[in-house]
Amino acid sequence: MPTRRAFLSTAGAASAFVWLPKPVKGYSTAEMRAFTASADGVTTRGVSKWDLDTPALCLDLDAMERNVATMQAALKRFGVVSRPHAKTHKCAAIAKYQLSTGSIGICCAKLTEAEAFYAAGIEPILMTTSNPSPQKVRRAMALRKKNPQFIQAVDEEPNARDLSAAAKEADVVADVVIDVAVGTRSGIPAGEGALALAKVIDTLPNLKLRGLLSYDGGVQHQKGFAARKARALQAIEANAATREAMKKAGLNVEIFSGGGTGTYNIMHHVPGFSDLQVGSYLFMDMQYLEIGGEDGNAVYKDFAPSLTVTTTIMNNRFPGLLTTDAGTKALTLNKPNPGVIGEPGMDYTAGSDEFGTIKVTSASKSYKIGDKLEVIVPHCDPVVNEYDQIYGIRNDRVEVVWPITARGKSQ
Ligand SMILES: Cc1ncc(COP(=O)(O)O)c(C=O)c1O
Repeated sequence: MPTRRAFLSTAGAASAFVWLPKPVKGYSTAEMRAFTASADGVTTRGVSKWDLDTPALCLDLDAMERNVATMQAALKRFGVVSRPHAKTHKCAAIAKYQLSTGSIGICCAKLTEAEAFYAAGIEPILMTTSNPSPQKVRRAMALRKKNPQFIQAVDEEPNARDLSAAAKEADVVADVVIDVAVGTRSGIPAGEGALALAKVIDTLPNLKLRGLLSYDGGVQHQKGFAARKARALQAIEANAATREAMKKAGLNVEIFSGGGTGTYNIMHHVPGFSDLQVGSYLFMDMQYLEIGGEDGNAVYKDFAPSLTVTTTIMNNRFPGLLTTDAGTKALTLNKPNPGVIGEPGMDYTAGSDEFGTIKVTSASKSYKIGDKLEVIVPHCDPVVNEYDQIYGIRNDRVEVVWPITARGKSQ
């Protein structure tokens, strides 16, 4: 069976080769930012990826652009559109690229995230998380006042009434969608209750119902395409029936949003489904590589891993072990472990705050202190949140330095 280790040994992300040691400058975050004169982050210095101080968050621009093109072409064939989730990249420059390549908007998970994206010039924003506290209700409606393209999710009547009152105070009619649950994490259960909530919202003077969202987080990483497809379509049946009932009742169902990277090629089978909230397809990660593709391959290859972290070896003094400078704060504790590109005989654990430890059963060379490695991250979203900026790489050179606009915006 093709394993992820086999995948790592053969398929490169940015580059499948380890760095050949030479004295390097080790350009810091601040130095690299100083090299970018223009607002779009373009740098003309031609710094090699391997000359960045580590840990450095790197993005293979060719691979990312191919991922976007693959997604857009597939969704076009399926007759749906993308409204990518910006919780994955938190980066305004990437959101602008998604919008310029055909996405109809972005999604945000946190209000502070949405505020940061709006401040960076992004307007079509769907807030997929409800904002039930009084402060957040006020802030969400303040954002709506500034940004007519802001849409808020809601999943209970008191919150809907509060939103309507705050919208009235802000002198706006605010667009909302009902979050209809798939699973038990968030949202109102599909069925009569959801229909009743939709009807109430329709009567509230300062809210405009735009439809519903139904995101199934659990199914995205279901291994095996056939099992994933069957589970996703079964789980959303009740939501599709709720949408149908809303439509029959004369309610607006123009938006029926959800899905992710694991179900991008499944959700168009759901009647009325309008848009995919895909996030990880841009970057990929070890979690997604494991889910398997429609082609029956155990490795999910629809999208290429474009996001990596470079790391430096700090210690090689213990037999069969290497210590690196990328631990939990660079890679998080998510499983599966980071994958070392080009070195299938290495098992990387990011268990210490500032150190990674590698058990080496085999290696392509003898590693010295100062040598660098490149790893595919366990789970892209939380890793991105650990960095101030992302280096866009082409042909191993830094082409752009993009700030992670909504880094740490978790409220
Ligand atoms: C509500 C919602 N929509 C979409 C996504 C994107 O999913 P993926 O990264 O699997 O494409 C997420 C990710 O957690 C999410 O929470």
